[in-house]
Amino acid sequence: EEPPAQRAVPQAGDPSLILLRRVGVVDPASLDDYRAHGGYTALRRAFALGPAGVIREVSDSGLVGRGGAAFPTGRKWQATASQPDRPHHLVCNADESEPGTFKDRVIMEGDPYALVEAMTIAGYAIGAHRGLIYLRGEYPRALQRLEHAIAQARARGLLGDDVLGQGYAFDIEIRRGAGAYICGEETALFNSIEGYRGEPRSKPPFPVEKGLFGRPTVENNVETLVNVLPILTQGAEAYAAIGTEHSTGPKLFCVSGSVARPGVYEVPFGVTLGELLALAGVRPGLRAVLLGGAAGGFVRPDETDIPLTFEGTRRAGTTLGSGVVMAFDGTVPLPRLLLRIAEFFRDESCGQCVPCRVGTVRQQEALQRIVERTGAAAAADIALLREVGRALRDASICGLGQTAWNAVESAVDRLGAYE
Ligand code: NAI
Ligand code: SF4
Repeated sequence: EEPPAQRAVPQAGDPSLILLRRVGVVDPASLDDYRAHGGYTALRRAFALGPAGVIREVSDSGLVGRGGAAFPTGRKWQATASQPDRPHHLVCNADESEPGTFKDRVIMEGDPYALVEAMTIAGYAIGAHRGLIYLRGEYPRALQRLEHAIAQARARGLLGDDVLGQGYAFDIEIRRGAGAYICGEETALFNSIEGYRGEPRSKPPFPVEKGLFGRPTVENNVETLVNVLPILTQGAEAYAAIGTEHSTGPKLFCVSGSVARPGVYEVPFGVTLGELLALAGVRPGLRAVLLGGAAGGFVRPDETDIPLTFEGTRRAGTTLGSGVVMAFDGTVPLPRLLLRIAEFFRDESCGQCVPCRVGTVRQQEALQRIVERTGAAAAADIALLREVGRALRDASICGLGQTAWNAVESAVDRLGAYE
């Protein structure tokens, strides 16, 4: 069989890049440079289309959320736009905390005006006059660049009472996280902004109806928002022609671990895992790949023909999540790695519901026992892990508890981690 054609590694400024096309090319502190590279043409098109027209374009593009859950963005925007309750809010989830995820950071540091422009468009579409960025506390450079971009945009009439002289008022504020993974969960994030403990709320009601301060709120991930720029400048049809029928557009992947060139890669949906690993220069002796982060799952080296699409990974019994691709070779002891993942979930559980508060501790204890037995698992340990995992998945309030057993389960079932 023919090996897949080797793709070239796109460099900064490569014309094939869409989301990353300005990163490493423009001066992130210069609004003029951003405009010279196509900045603010999408916002002008948005004003020409009107709010309903923008939502129609975003819906027709097939864009789905890039934070990990792949909910249709146009449906979310429409749901909030049609709420009679006012005011409407826009929140950008920039709390990027999934282990192995660093794509939003690259956008915010390298092309901060893109996020400011995209948020202005989203705010206009959903009828919001206030946008908040909830930024991961450990991203000081992104904070400084975004603060500067917001101030410059405000000074030049691109934010404020009358954006571009179109009679639309919109401004952006930044709120910083303080290191809690759970505050990236969309409703825990609202509580954190409102000054309460970062504990998830029960859904429904969904944020599109009752979100920040109980008002209709659209919450989108950074990467999701910046996709709106090419959708408006190229048109929904051209955008939807990229990728596959059910996973449209370009996608950012965070490749790390046992590869020669770790980093953020932009490829169209549909590239296989093997092709992406080849781009990053996978090292010999690949033992496993963690897809989708700690909340995702492991796949074997013989499964690298999985197409990187939402439908392709689902069919293969795994997930794309937030775009994490972490490669491990045989030098990484799997039992220790799994214990580290379990410790992460134990530490980051907010403790609000029993299945997760207790289940993440029981899981970590079982994995600790296995490591102490130098990696050998008794049948009773595996049975207990499965029972705890079922309770975590079925009875936890939020995604943290529901996914806390994913990686361990996949390591047991797909990798035979303890055989
Ligand atoms: P979810 O499926 O509950 O919701 C996804 C989005 O769709 C939310 O904004 C939700 O409000 C909205 N939604 C769902 N049903 C709706 C309806 N009927 N009407 C209106 N809106 C609706 O998923 P969740 O818990 O928000 O996110 C889980 C994902 O987050 C996982 O896939 C995980 O990979 C990812 N994740 C990403 C992290 C990162 O750093 N990027 C960190 C941790 C998890
Ligand atoms: Fe908190 Fe875990 Fe329950 Fe989520 S599942 S609400 S993190 S205790």
